Amino acid sequence: MKFPSLFSPLKVGPYQLQHRVVMAPLTRMRAEKPSLAPRPLNVEYYAQRATPGGLIIAEASPVVNTGFGSPGIPGIYSEQQIAGWRKVVDAVHAKGGIIFLQLWHVGRVSHSSFQPGGALPVAPSAVAISSEFKAMTAEGKVVEYETPRALETSEIPGVIDAYREGAKNALKAGFDGVEIHGANGYLIEQFLQSRSNLRTDQYGGSIENRVRFLMDVTKAVIEVWGANRVGVRLSPYGIANGSGEADPMPLYSHAIKSLDPLGLAYLHFIEPRSSGAGRAEVNHQNVPSAMVLYRPMWSGVLITAGGFTGETADAAIAAGHADAIAFGRIFISNPDLPRRLRRAYPITPYNRATFYGGEQKGYTDYPAHDEMAQA
Ligand code: FNR
Repeated sequence: MKFPSLFSPLKVGPYQLQHRVVMAPLTRMRAEKPSLAPRPLNVEYYAQRATPGGLIIAEASPVVNTGFGSPGIPGIYSEQQIAGWRKVVDAVHAKGGIIFLQLWHVGRVSHSSFQPGGALPVAPSAVAISSEFKAMTAEGKVVEYETPRALETSEIPGVIDAYREGAKNALKAGFDGVEIHGANGYLIEQFLQSRSNLRTDQYGGSIENRVRFLMDVTKAVIEVWGANRVGVRLSPYGIANGSGEADPMPLYSHAIKSLDPLGLAYLHFIEPRSSGAGRAEVNHQNVPSAMVLYRPMWSGVLITAGGFTGETADAAIAAGHADAIAFGRIFISNPDLPRRLRRAYPITPYNRATFYGGEQKGYTDYPAHDEMAQA
C-alpha cells in the first residue's frame, strides 16, 4: 500500500485539492482604512500564494463591527468589504486556487476604542483577560484588557445572526467556503471554556451548554453554505489570548463528537505546541498533539497547523494523523511554498517585525524561489 503524502490529491467537501499544503488563516492588518475592505495590495498577496488545486484559508474577518480587536483587519459585513474580497477571490480563482474565508468575532479580545460609541466589548461573561496579556487600542496603543460586558441571553441569537450574515456575505463575495474561527481565545472559545464562561443560562455551565454557541453558529452557517463547504477551527490545549481549559479532553471530545455528524468540509486544529504563534515565537514542550488525540473522534477531513516542515507534514499525513497541513509563518515568507516543499528548495525565514500592519514590506516582497535564483 502506498501512503498518502503532502502531494497526494485530497477531496475537501466538493473540491478536489491537488496537494495538501494549505495556507493557514493569517491576520496581517493591511486592509484599507477606514472601510476595512481588502485593497489591491491584499489581492496581490493572495494571488502570489494561490496554486492550482491549493486551498487558502483567508485571514480571520469579523462578521460585525463589534467583533474587532486590532486595527486594519478586513471585515465581511459591508458592501465595500464584499467587493474588496471579490477581487481577492477572483485573483485566486484565476490561478486555479480554492479559497475559504475565516469568520471571526473576537469577543473580549477587543477594546472599547473599537466599539461603536466606545461601549465595552461583549463576551459570554464579565471576565477580563489577565494582565499578562495586553490589549491593543484602535490607535495601536498597548493597554490592559477591560472587563467585557456579558451578553444577555436575548442578545445571543443576534450574534449568531451576525455569523449567518457574514457567511452570506462570503457567499456573495464568491468564496468557495467558510471556516468558523473557534480557536485562540476568541468569542466562540470564550463560550467553550469554563474560565471565560460563567453563564447560568443554556449557554453556560455544563459542557453541553458551553458547546451550544459553537453548534448554533455552525448550524447557522451551514444553513447558508451547506455543511460540506464549512470548516471549523479549534485549538484544544491552547493558551492564546488568555484562554486555557483546565481539563480540555472532555470539553473538546464533546465538541468534536457533536460536530462530526454534521458532515463538515473539514476540522482544523492549531497544534498546542504552537499556541500563540501569532504573538511570539513559541515551541511549547510536553504538550499533547491535537491531531493524534482527536483523529479517532473525527471521521472527516482533518487539517492541522503548528510548526510543520515539509518532512514532518509528510510524516503526519503518511501516519494518518492528519489529511492536510496548514502552514502559517513560512507561507508568509515563501509565496511559492507548495513548490518549494515539493522540490525541497530552501525555505526563506520570516520577519516577525512585518507580520502586522504596513505595506509591501514583509507582505508582497518575499520572492519566489526562481526569482531568487535569477537575482
Ligand atoms: C496567525 N494565526 C491565526 N490563526 C487563525 O485561526 N486566524 C488568524 O487570522 C490567524 N492569524 C495569524 C497571524 C499571524 C501573523 C500568525 C503568525 C499566526 C495562527 C496560524 O494560522 C497558525 O495556526 C500558526 O501560525 C501555526 O502555524 P505555523 O506558523 O507554525 O505554520
